[in-house]
Amino acid sequence: MNILKDSFGRRFSYIRLSISDVCNFKCGYCLPDGYKIDKSDNRTFITKEEIGRLAKALSELGVSKIRLTGGEPTVRKDFLDIIKIIKKNSGIKKTVITTNGYHLDRIADDLNKSGLDGINISIDSLDPKTFRKITGHDRLNEILEGIKKLQKLNFKNIKVNAVLLRGVNDKEEDFKSWANFIKNNQIDFRYIELMQTGDNLDYFNQYHVSANKFTNYLNNNNWVIQTFGKDAGPSKNYINPEYKGKFGVIAPYSKDFCKSCNRLRITAKGDLRLCLFGNTGINIRHLMQRDDQTEELKDLILKQLNYKKESHYLEIGETGLTKNLSTTGG
Ligand code: 5AD
Ligand code: SF4
Repeated sequence: MNILKDSFGRRFSYIRLSISDVCNFKCGYCLPDGYKIDKSDNRTFITKEEIGRLAKALSELGVSKIRLTGGEPTVRKDFLDIIKIIKKNSGIKKTVITTNGYHLDRIADDLNKSGLDGINISIDSLDPKTFRKITGHDRLNEILEGIKKLQKLNFKNIKVNAVLLRGVNDKEEDFKSWANFIKNNQIDFRYIELMQTGDNLDYFNQYHVSANKFTNYLNNNNWVIQTFGKDAGPSKNYINPEYKGKFGVIAPYSKDFCKSCNRLRITAKGDLRLCLFGNTGINIRHLMQRDDQTEELKDLILKQLNYKKESHYLEIGETGLTKNLSTTGG
């Protein structure tokens, strides 16, 4: 069987699929002025039927896990149907979602019923004021209530991410409040080091701080790094026997970060992206139109993967930095 593998021995068993560019938050590092329609691109977002066919082709290529991202995936009215379609007959083993947690308290029940296998929620701070300052929304409480609901329903595999921001959420007391949060909660919390994008240069210069600030805290507080397997994600995880949850660090600027890259991305308009940074990759949507196109779609994806280079893509038209992460879902 043909499986997704590149010339550097990296296997791709995991796809991130954006289902909408639209986002209802205004995170300072991503969409500080809120989402604006890209008038230069009038293509619609991929439909749930197209997603169903895509998922089947991917599963036949050895992909076992799909993460739905955005923008904010839950702004799509049919996002529960999308989860169900992937779960139903694509062959994909795990369907998970990354969300900003908007209305999580209201949708927790439906999410649980949809068959979803995991959820990553972005919470940049446990302080409501700081949360509002970063995201433009006073919604920390509804998110925390949503998490409690999911836990009551015995939903497994809840993760929380925060972007580490200098002077905003990088103090020892911030780290302690997260430690407190995961002490008796089986929830993994990860800090992501702020990434520079085409849109956020000033913000980056003001708020970027090395993830070492957090790893130093972990090292000084009895957290022990977990050895990770070949197909592990980009997060370095730390455990501590006194805590139910794990801590994690995603440091994209660290040496060899790209070596362990096991992900491909597909945008909400059906472009296959080989890497988060840069706009390389082609549209594959025309092969999601009919059930009898599966083989052709698989061939095209396999062919594209040959272009996934060790870490940069200048030779196939890399245009520089991605404007922001709202089209590729982080
Ligand atoms: N740097 C780091 N993380 C980012 N995210 C969005 N933009 C950036 C950036 N510039 C994160 C979000 C969310 C995930 C989907 O990506 O906060 O946790
Ligand atoms: Fe929306 Fe996520 Fe960007 Fe925040 S980081 S504005 S939640 S897409």
